Amino acid sequence: MSAIDLRGDTVTRPSDAMRRAMAEAPVGDDVYGEDPTVNRLQAVLAERLGKEAALFMASGTMSNQVAVKTLTQPGDEVICHRWSHVYNFEGGTAPAMSGVGFYPIEGEHGVITAEQVEVARQQVIKKRGGSPELEQVRFEPFREGKALQIMHIGAFADEPRTLAVMDAYAAEHGYTYRGKHHEIYLSDFRKTAPERLRTILRHPIED
Ligand SMILES: Cc1ncc(COP(=O)(O)O)c(C=O)c1O
Repeated sequence: MSAIDLRGDTVTRPSDAMRRAMAEAPVGDDVYGEDPTVNRLQAVLAERLGKEAALFMASGTMSNQVAVKTLTQPGDEVICHRWSHVYNFEGGTAPAMSGVGFYPIEGEHGVITAEQVEVARQQVIKKRGGSPELEQVRFEPFREGKALQIMHIGAFADEPRTLAVMDAYAAEHGYTYRGKHHEIYLSDFRKTAPERLRTILRHPIED
């Protein structure tokens, strides 16, 4: 049985095709907005996520630090999981760069609940008094809503064949798609023959 290593995104390795794409990508000066690859990446991501714009970040740590700096004022407290990367693996960067403290929550298996966030918020209010920013802190679970999904067995390039089956089913039953479909990769593409790759294709639909 082959095991899938889920310790982190960092244990994955780029395939030969990914390395080739990186080596051959057209590049330019991003400060002047002249890097066509970065421009395309930002445009595609903004469109896919339904946002006004996207900004390429060179690393996860950079993304976390920019987020903290953008969303806080010096003296604020960041409520996060005890084992979150920003608290546990980024040293004193956020306190040094953004002047914030941390309120770490012990959540089971990396999960924090709405109740834990509310308790943390109330304790911070008690310690420091309320503020308009603290009023805005909320816990947002992401729900997919109703969706159609189908298992695709085969190469990624063959997905249109399976998507067509789902499209026909949606049309036959009067379902209207919402946004774009996404993919859940069940196989390790480094160890599985392309014709045996298993991928869930899921497309949200209107209620
Ligand atoms: C949630 C999270 N944030 C930040 C990072 C750090 O990313 P980077 O190594 O690109 O700085 C990681 C890396 O695994 C991560 O999982």
